[in-house]
Amino acid sequence: MFETVIPPEPDKIIRLMGLFAADPRPGKVDLGVGVYRSPEGRTPVMAAVKAAEQGIWERQETKGYVGLAGDPGFLDAMRRLILGDSVPAARVAGCGTPGGTGAIRQVLETVRRLRPEATVWISDPTWPNHPAIIDHLGQSRQSYRYYDAETGGIDRDGMLADLAKAQAGDLILLHGCCHNPTGADLTLADWQAVADLCARTGAIPFVDMAYQGFGDGIEADAAGVRLLAAALPEVLIAASCSKNFGLYRERVGVVLIVSDAKAAVDGVLAGMNRQSYAFPPDHGARVVQDILSDDGLAAQWRAELDGMRAVMQGNRAALAAALRAATGSDRFGFLGAHRGMFSLIGARAEQVDILRESHGIYLVGDGRMNVAGLSAAVIPRVARAVAEVLA
Ligand code: LMR
Repeated sequence: MFETVIPPEPDKIIRLMGLFAADPRPGKVDLGVGVYRSPEGRTPVMAAVKAAEQGIWERQETKGYVGLAGDPGFLDAMRRLILGDSVPAARVAGCGTPGGTGAIRQVLETVRRLRPEATVWISDPTWPNHPAIIDHLGQSRQSYRYYDAETGGIDRDGMLADLAKAQAGDLILLHGCCHNPTGADLTLADWQAVADLCARTGAIPFVDMAYQGFGDGIEADAAGVRLLAAALPEVLIAASCSKNFGLYRERVGVVLIVSDAKAAVDGVLAGMNRQSYAFPPDHGARVVQDILSDDGLAAQWRAELDGMRAVMQGNRAALAAALRAATGSDRFGFLGAHRGMFSLIGARAEQVDILRESHGIYLVGDGRMNVAGLSAAVIPRVARAVAEVLA
């Protein structure tokens, strides 16, 4: 069976992780994979997470199975975190998943089962695993215009013109906040325009929420998805706790589906979990549940998250200022306006190669920079190299 097998090429983010790990140069700078780094270059375990884990260690008396959809307390806490009171709990089905990627996969599997003819509309550009999973499932996909490289903002007219071609029942995949890879987010007016378009066409929004709290704050970052949930009969959501709880390797994700058929959809999701991995992982989900259900821990977590966001915004401002000084222009001013970990800096593939090979600065091949990988110590060097290579 395996004699002639050809392993798939890893995607550009995973490939870059391998290149970075293999680079022996001591001054190499990782601005690739989307992992938060403190000013000291660490990806810390949050103190609220440590405290919750200690509580679990002290109190947990069994590792017996919980349920196919995960713990109802976790699902409820995530529903509140993401949807607030935009929609009644009785209209929200859900299940726990291994990470946000597991949630994306379960949503798409569910749609493939219930409506195999649906096309999934993805932004151009998007996270490379979106098209990869859609293709793996054999679903049809189309791209919609999203990013305007000239302005560093959204191509709103292009986006709405392309999405107007979506058919009833198609999925429109949107990034809830902190668009990956561009860093350019929809405004509330844009979310309203998407809601109107979905109401008109019958297309269904599918929101990937991987960075809630990294943009403008927990509530502000959820404003778009809440607007959709309040306005439309059906909304699909895949969310991750990797970044905002720093629980990357614990694999904590959730599917939330807004619809009038909660009981049936809950059953479908539990069945999908059963066939995929039976029960979703519990430890990280329990940490999240315990943090969100304890006022003290929740406040501590929010303060830590606010601190991480401030670091990233500080890095953005400092790099934009250093590039202004290095280039004598405001060409990279968009860095300050973008949100979350990522920005596309407008580097071509060969320029990304030069940054990596000659300067030890690692960006994803499309020119995506993880600003969390910056620090006061490296910003002057990164700015000089970017200004020189992109001149
Ligand atoms: C990223 O975009 O770098 C992260 O979401 C990590 C990943 O799995 O690709």
